[in-house]
Amino acid sequence: MEASAVTSRLILPCGASVKNRLCKAAMTEGVADASNRATERHVTLYRRWADGGAGVLLTGNVQVDRRYLERAGNIAIDGSQDRSQLAALEAMAEAGTGNDAHLWMQISHAGRQTPKLIATEPVGPSDIPVALPGGRFGKPRALSGDEIRDIIKRFALAAGIAKQTGFTGVQVHSAHGYLLSEFLSPRVNVRDDEWGGSLENRARLLLDTVRAVRATVGPDFPVTVKLNSADFQKGGFSFDDCLRVIELLNEEGLDLLEISGGNYEQPKLMGIGGLEPVFEEKVRQSTRAREAYFFDYAVAASQVAKMPLMVTGGFRSADGMNEALSGGDVDMIGLARPLCVDANFPTKIMSGELQVAPDVEAGLRIGPGILGPNSRLAIIKAMNGFARIGWFYEQIYRLADGLDPDLSMSALQALLAYEKTEKSKARELLR
Ligand SMILES: Cc1cc2nc3c(=O)[nH]c(=O)nc-3n(C[C@H](O)[C@H](O)[C@H](O)COP(=O)(O)O)c2cc1C
Repeated sequence: MEASAVTSRLILPCGASVKNRLCKAAMTEGVADASNRATERHVTLYRRWADGGAGVLLTGNVQVDRRYLERAGNIAIDGSQDRSQLAALEAMAEAGTGNDAHLWMQISHAGRQTPKLIATEPVGPSDIPVALPGGRFGKPRALSGDEIRDIIKRFALAAGIAKQTGFTGVQVHSAHGYLLSEFLSPRVNVRDDEWGGSLENRARLLLDTVRAVRATVGPDFPVTVKLNSADFQKGGFSFDDCLRVIELLNEEGLDLLEISGGNYEQPKLMGIGGLEPVFEEKVRQSTRAREAYFFDYAVAASQVAKMPLMVTGGFRSADGMNEALSGGDVDMIGLARPLCVDANFPTKIMSGELQVAPDVEAGLRIGPGILGPNSRLAIIKAMNGFARIGWFYEQIYRLADGLDPDLSMSALQALLAYEKTEKSKARELLR
């Protein structure tokens, strides 16, 4: 094992140089203003994360259409931006590229996972709604061919603005059940035109988007994709599909592919199960990087992938990260939740000050034990998922306000605060 692997430099295919192998993975910030512009809170947040030492910072998902956000506080870039929005993005980019960090904009369309608070009728490949209790998501309308082609242009436009305003790379978000990942899933995409059916057709939106983005930003700018290893749902996007999509992406000159998994119905991305049983995908088990739940998929993917790979999900210890890198199958480590609890986590791992992230999730659930994470009550199970994510949202708000994280916050407090903020931000937005 190479003990200093996390600290080694990485040169990407486009020529860009990354100072170490740790990446702050994308986390929706929720701190844009009511016109979906970047704010001073983004500047504070990204300055703190840049100071924290990671070689790359990925932004939270920036939306290409203000009508279909993942949440009200998203940044959106959809062609309507004025000089003030560009200036706000420039300030954010300047903060996030401090300390020799890269700042890559994650670009996304929320698709059918747009909450009802934002759009009562979201859009998707087909009219199949998100199967979660609580009425959070409306029944989607299937997009027309013209609308799909317009979305590809929107991704390219956002990528061009990212480059113009000082971001040093982009990531096309094709994971976690948002629009591009919906198109990949045969469960959600039941179209019978050129955008549905065979895997080649289901992957067309992703591939055309990557091509349009590359054509806009040119050959020297990092272009990356986040892709599910699988949706872990019966009849969903499978690991075999993932390998085939990687083969298709091999032809597109990507600089990095990030491997994740799951969606709102099956939140494997957070290492937790959904309402339906997890549909396990067969993959050879390795003894390395046990804490990282998509690592084995990434190792198998490296057999076909020509581009550098990053794997995200569950990494908490210096040993786990170094072991994962030591085999040479993956090139970067994505870290999300530990950076909500300690913005300096990457530096502390690299310097040896910390060997492992504090476990903050053990007690994060609402209700007594019987209603805990294994509850059969669907609504409680779903609420526990939202409480858990809400807890991290609240910590991000604190970081954005220049405060320290509050580890004493309970899951119930976080859930209530989360529900209140999301509703009031959505009302502000719709006004
Ligand atoms: C608060 C929060 C917000 C997130 N927002 C995004 C997002 O905007 N885009 C994305 O691709 N993943 C998002 N994720 C998923 C993370 O990027 C990552 O895949 C996941 O948290 C697993 O990594 P971890 O175990 O290091 O937290 C989010 C996760 C958290 C905790």
